Amino acid sequence: MCGIVGYVGPRQASDVLIGGLARLEYRGYDSAGVAIIGENGLDIVRRVGKLVNLTGAVAETPVPGTIGIGHTRWATHGRPSEENAHPHADCTGRVAVVHNGIIENYVELREELAATGHMLRSETDTETIAHLIESYYDGDLVAAVSSAIKRLDGSYALAVMHLDHPGMMVAARKDSPLIIGIGEGENVVASDIPAVLEYTREVLILNDDQIATVSGDAVRVTTLDGHEVGAPEMLHVEWDLEAAEKGGFEDFMLKEIFEQPKAIRETLRGRMCEGEIQLSELDMAPEQVARIGRVYIIACGTSFHAGMISKTIIEQWARVPVEVEVSSEFRYSDPIIDDDTLVVAITQSGETADTLAGVREARDRGAKVIAITNVVGSRVTRESDGVIYTHAGPEIGVAATKTFTAQIAALYVLALKLAQAKGALPQERIEHLWSELSRMPEIVETILEDIDGLKECGARYVGASSSLFLGRGIGVPVAMEGALKLKEISYIHAEAYPAGEMKHGPIALITEGMPIVVVATQGHTYEKVVSNIQEVRARGAQVIAVATHGDDEIHRHAEHILYVPATAESLSAIPATIPLQLLSYYIAKARGCNVDQPRNLAKSVTVE
Ligand code: AGP
Repeated sequence: MCGIVGYVGPRQASDVLIGGLARLEYRGYDSAGVAIIGENGLDIVRRVGKLVNLTGAVAETPVPGTIGIGHTRWATHGRPSEENAHPHADCTGRVAVVHNGIIENYVELREELAATGHMLRSETDTETIAHLIESYYDGDLVAAVSSAIKRLDGSYALAVMHLDHPGMMVAARKDSPLIIGIGEGENVVASDIPAVLEYTREVLILNDDQIATVSGDAVRVTTLDGHEVGAPEMLHVEWDLEAAEKGGFEDFMLKEIFEQPKAIRETLRGRMCEGEIQLSELDMAPEQVARIGRVYIIACGTSFHAGMISKTIIEQWARVPVEVEVSSEFRYSDPIIDDDTLVVAITQSGETADTLAGVREARDRGAKVIAITNVVGSRVTRESDGVIYTHAGPEIGVAATKTFTAQIAALYVLALKLAQAKGALPQERIEHLWSELSRMPEIVETILEDIDGLKECGARYVGASSSLFLGRGIGVPVAMEGALKLKEISYIHAEAYPAGEMKHGPIALITEGMPIVVVATQGHTYEKVVSNIQEVRARGAQVIAVATHGDDEIHRHAEHILYVPATAESLSAIPATIPLQLLSYYIAKARGCNVDQPRNLAKSVTVE
């Protein structure tokens, strides 16, 4: 949550900061601000709302200077307002701070600071940091930042400037991401890689409890006690800025939907060799894999739905019981974990605070934790025993699309690996499933080649206020993901249910003309799904069915059919998802919604 950028070098800082914030806007967009040190001192400009408001203000009244910090906010403490927007200053106006994270003891700190005469002007937890730095400052900014952060409970990524030090900034982190792009004669501090790529591909990854002193030509990393960190962690970024830009599509979300064949192909690449499923990332001997007696999956949102899909698959193929738990619940649920439990943490960003907390809980209880993530070097990769990467490329749209289907692909590989190690499926069946799975990129391409029907269907439901999504078996989490996409980006109320559960209550919600989306692809419960469709149609619902090519029968039961190619029932989750993503997309577009940055959301949720 919240995006931070800091710049020091020869360029005009405002250009770098605003460009960087634009690439981080997916992290939050309730307000934005910059602080720049120039000839006239320290200038702070902040605006409520999206970055465009700040950009306009800076264009109207330029803020010259070659060192600055910027922030795009996702509100936690204090409503979105100019006073609560970052950067925050101390009483003297000489210290400026931007922060991502949550200071849990901020009430206590505010009271202490107010009692010693500090004037706090916002409702935020962040402002306390600026005043703490002020109170500890005696000419040494690094020491003051270090003393201040020793007082903080909670999470933070910080960039700090002081008017007495016009050529340097101080950055620090704990449990919130922060990297430093190392350029030639310039350095850029940021919450995420896309913000620095215009200037460099060499990235220093700041770790927890480290402080970086950043000037134009040097970065010095120390511990909180001032000991030099000999070899800070470095990363060379392979992907370029273009990969993170729209490439001719109207929105990132649409671009990312169309990137799914590639994302799935890349995620599956090299996973089968001479009949053996390759998953060295598990870092376990075959007998250890064979001993896994239980799998716990922890994840949030869309990643949780990928986890639910894999529960069906792992249980069916490997005959291992799987528990899927929302990360924020797992941590407090006193989970039953023993030596034979494998915990799989699924997180696209690798920075989701709830999932990270779950990972720590699982490891404290002695579980082996494998992360499935899309972001190289992200937090979860350091906190887990092994990492399986999805190779989807950067996902900028707040609504997860290509990372979801890539996660499912990775989970299919994991399920096959477990099935093979345990001897739960005959070798021929494993090879057959693998070859079906390998067809998935082409199957998705086929769906994406013909989307006119989806556009029309979307336009028809632009005025809907409520909807239901139904499915059975693997179709239930697919329906849940479809409903999440619709509510996230179009703001239409959408609920997902197992189709057979409708008659036990939710059927009372149905009114004339209500759109009901049903996952009705071929499978062993197809006939039951058709009966459930009849139940809802008898009550006036308009049915949109996702069905398998060649199913002509379905025309008698649904107003709209979204066809997908035939595949094995257990692999149908990926094809069935694509029309649901596009349906939500076209409904949201027809309603004039910003699909890339839906209201109230942020791409990485780094607070618990
Ligand atoms: C998906 O469209 C959402 N924006 C959200 O539910 C997301 O999947 C969730 O916050 C988890 O994120 P993660 O995969 O990065 O952990």
